[in-house]
Amino acid sequence: MSTNNTSKEVETTGHVWDGDLREYSNPLPSWWLWTFYGTIVFSLIYWVLYPTWPIGNDFTKGIKTIEVKDEQGKVIYDGHWNTRALLLDEMRNSPAALRQKEGIEMVKNASYEQILASPEMMSFARSMAKGLFGDYCAACHGTGGQGVLPYFPNLADDDWLWGGKVENIQKAITSGLKGNMPGFPTIQGQALDDLALYVLSLSGEKVDAAAAERGKKGYAMCMGCHGADGKGNAMLGAPNLTDKVWTVANVPGAGSIEGMKQEITNVIHKGIKREMPAFGHRLKDYEIKMLTVYVHEMGGGK
Ligand code: HEC
Ligand code: HEC
Repeated sequence: MSTNNTSKEVETTGHVWDGDLREYSNPLPSWWLWTFYGTIVFSLIYWVLYPTWPIGNDFTKGIKTIEVKDEQGKVIYDGHWNTRALLLDEMRNSPAALRQKEGIEMVKNASYEQILASPEMMSFARSMAKGLFGDYCAACHGTGGQGVLPYFPNLADDDWLWGGKVENIQKAITSGLKGNMPGFPTIQGQALDDLALYVLSLSGEKVDAAAAERGKKGYAMCMGCHGADGKGNAMLGAPNLTDKVWTVANVPGAGSIEGMKQEITNVIHKGIKREMPAFGHRLKDYEIKMLTVYVHEMGGGK
């Protein structure tokens, strides 16, 4: 049998079980042995340099040290090496952290005109503002800024209640907004229907022309805010009624002229109260600046 042949060539430990079961005494492969010795040497060096063994409530600190400086070059940590100090250092001094600091400085010192004209600053502001928008704005306006009819306006269209210039957007974020249209419960019946149809005719909906013509009279009460031509007034947050963009009345989803009329009569009857909270005290100036250009770009701002 072949096992008998090999057992003659290789040394065994001398133990025998069941009459013929023997254990070889092969030496360990040298690559394995040297790797093993290597790990021992590594662990000894590691032990001397780095924090290693727990001793009671303490631990061996190692002789390697680390120094961390803050923005002004002041030393804020100088002591034995540990991963917390390393993280502290990375957060302040890693290439990514330095790039971010540099970007913030750049944006802080630049005008809106300069930021909008610089692809570099825009791409930086975009990347930071995306996170801020997710944290502070998306709950209401949606991650893409698409809004929720009739509660929160769409920021991603090029249609603005309060104006789409950077100054308008910055003011909205800093001070908040109060969208306020009084209700007109005294307008009722045919007069209400006719007025609603007139409003729909402003944006080109095919409505009964005679009814719309009759409704035009009632519109006199609306002009103060929505303008004689229905184009709105950004000072008051009063929307343009002549475009086909709706932020409160769900005209596009109504399906029929009758349904559209219902949406408009609702608004006229009840009025609107919407509020956007102020962020001036919650966000840093440069954060508001980045959000402003982000929202401006999102809507293809003016
Ligand atoms: C609690 C909900 C809420 C949050 C959070 C919120 N908004 Fe608004 N926002 C509103 C409402 C409601 C309006 C509409 C105000 C009105 O009816 O005139 C609005 C309007 C706006 C407008 C004006 C739009 C226009 O058409 O003129 C801008 C710009 C805007 N929000 C930006 C932001 C940004 C940026 C953030 C995050 C920092 C944010 N909003 C967070 C509710 C919110
Ligand atoms: C005091 C100013 C004011 C007056 C007067 C006023 N509105 Fe408004 N109207 C607003 C404002 C502000 C909004 C937007 C509110 C918001 O977005 O929070 C609005 C919104 C609307 C909307 C919703 C538009 C949309 O995009 O969904 C309709 C429709 C409308 N008004 C019709 C009228 C009609 C018709 C009258 C006259 C009977 C009238 N309004 C009178 C200020 C006014």
